[in-house]
Amino acid sequence: MKAAVTDRYGPPEVLKLGRLPRPLPEKGEVRVKIHASTVGRTDTATLRAHPFFARAMTGTFRPKIKTLGMDFAGIVDLLGEDVSDFDIGDRVFGLSPDTFGGHAEYLCVPAKGAIARIPGDLPFHQTVVGEGAWYAEGTAKLLSEGMRCLVYGASGAIGTAAVQLAKARGAYVVAVVGTRHVALSKRLGADRVVNYEAEDFTAIREKFDVVFDAVGKTSFFHCRPLLKADGIFAATDLGPGWSNILLSAWFGLTGSKRVQIPFPKDAPGFVRHLAKLMTTGQFQGVFDRRYPLDDIVEAFQYVEKGQKTGIVVLNVT
Ligand SMILES: NC(=O)c1ccc[n+]([C@@H]2O[C@H](COP(=O)([O-])OP(=O)(O)OC[C@H]3O[C@@H](n4cnc5c(N)ncnc54)[C@H](OP(=O)(O)O)[C@@H]3O)[C@@H](O)[C@H]2O)c1
Repeated sequence: MKAAVTDRYGPPEVLKLGRLPRPLPEKGEVRVKIHASTVGRTDTATLRAHPFFARAMTGTFRPKIKTLGMDFAGIVDLLGEDVSDFDIGDRVFGLSPDTFGGHAEYLCVPAKGAIARIPGDLPFHQTVVGEGAWYAEGTAKLLSEGMRCLVYGASGAIGTAAVQLAKARGAYVVAVVGTRHVALSKRLGADRVVNYEAEDFTAIREKFDVVFDAVGKTSFFHCRPLLKADGIFAATDLGPGWSNILLSAWFGLTGSKRVQIPFPKDAPGFVRHLAKLMTTGQFQGVFDRRYPLDDIVEAFQYVEKGQKTGIVVLNVT
């Protein structure tokens, strides 16, 4: 099968198109013929082994994962032993957060893992929505009906998902984006949209239960005026000078949990939740460019710029 592979860490140019043996499903697994995947910030960070301590998990000197791609959508084409949840021919989507592998023509995943049938007749490329949404869900879970949330950087993969997941939980949501994304945030259901290019979002005279830096461009100290007394600053990134890591450790010790990097959990449960939200129309992917697998290097180069709107799709088949 055709796949994008690497045997070393580095910039997008270390990725090569290669041929690998088609994987065979083990007991309890299905094989998916992949039609679409994504190139996300998790892929670009993993390729560069950033931050460096991630190597403890991804391989000290060389990457253990040779083919990236957390999202996949395609058709089940082979069943391992003891699989009763899926049939050959099922249209499925899902996440492969531990072993990646979506940037290839075939992928084997546990049938009881992070995989679900595609709702309705959505095309494959519109269902590869998991990566950013899964990271956003860690923060969305802090919210319940009537709580107030501000999403800073609501135009990326995580930010666009965060607005929708917070709304689905009944929260009041303020989205902070640049000029070119104001209309998008309104369409996604934000109750108020603040253009960070036109006004200081920290001076909006509202207080929040959760301020979520979805794009790694602000800080707890900058956002503190927006937080209620027991409000939480949540982030997806280490923060300036690793401040988010240090502060989350400090506040963890004091028990206040005021700064958090909510790591996502339970990918299988989340994919099923996402399938339901897509069925009810409460979640829709926001898509930027689509690249063919052959242009994998260009896709990584574009994503690394940090300027995409939502999700960059990789057309595999
Ligand atoms: N914890 C993890 O393992 C993990 C996993 C994935 C991602 N991440 C991190 O999470 C962050 C978001 O990932 P993502 O994939 O959602 O990002 P993304 O899609 O690359 O975000 C790009 C968006 O951010 C906007 N943006 C850029 N600079 C901004 C600024 N100063 N203020 C507000 N918006 C700005 C851009 O639009 P404009 O420039 O037009 O505003 C663009 O729409 C990244 O920092 C990434 O490293 C962490």
